[in-house]
Amino acid sequence: MTQSSAPVITIDGPSGSGKGTIAQLLAGKLGWRILDSGALYRLTALSAAKQGVALDDAEAVARVASTLAVEFVPGAADQPVSVNLAGEDVTLEIRTESCGAMASQVAAHQQVREALLQRQRDFQQPPGLIADGRDMGTVVFPNADCKLFLVASAEERARRRQRQLMQQGQSVKIAHLLNEIEERDARDMNRLHAPLRPADDAVTLDTSGLSIDQVLQKVMRIWSEKQAG
Ligand code: C5P
Repeated sequence: MTQSSAPVITIDGPSGSGKGTIAQLLAGKLGWRILDSGALYRLTALSAAKQGVALDDAEAVARVASTLAVEFVPGAADQPVSVNLAGEDVTLEIRTESCGAMASQVAAHQQVREALLQRQRDFQQPPGLIADGRDMGTVVFPNADCKLFLVASAEERARRRQRQLMQQGQSVKIAHLLNEIEERDARDMNRLHAPLRPADDAVTLDTSGLSIDQVLQKVMRIWSEKQAG
């Protein structure tokens, strides 16, 4: 655990559960920093692919992870963070389905996870941190002040992803997205190292059928209750 005493709220869960959006809104409301740990796995995978490193070569991919030249550039109000890799803007490139699938492949290697561990803990700085990922509450910040685990049905997550892609001008069939989501869930939940699961002291929140605003309100209430002790 890091020496910093800045508070941490962890938000873990499968892709499409709404954790990225909620993490961003919560960070905005509290004025805290945000760690998008999935972006680090996506960047590792993208960087390895660009360098011609085989994704199943754990040691070589871990070397890529430990030398990632990444920069997160905060956007204006309500705008997402821009991501630069070795000076190149890869904000959109890392968000593709194929990059997500590659990320989940490299994330299965323990050496890669270790290579990214301290980089993630370094984000814990005052006034506080919202950490978004799969193992934020279980491995990276086990002493976090508040741990949330967001879930939603695979069908709902596929629909959300389809809407998101449509907004970006891409049309992808729902069945295809559902398939990809289920495959990625299975890989993330069944891997040996840091599998996707709620920490014992996490509060699980099912976001199916809830609006973003409703989820945010519930999360704010959970955080207020934690603070009240
Ligand atoms: O959250 P996001 O979809 O960007 O994550 C991409 C992939 O990175 C996940 O499917 C998962 O395999 C991996 N990941 C992880 N641990 C984290 C965050 C992401 O293994 N803390």
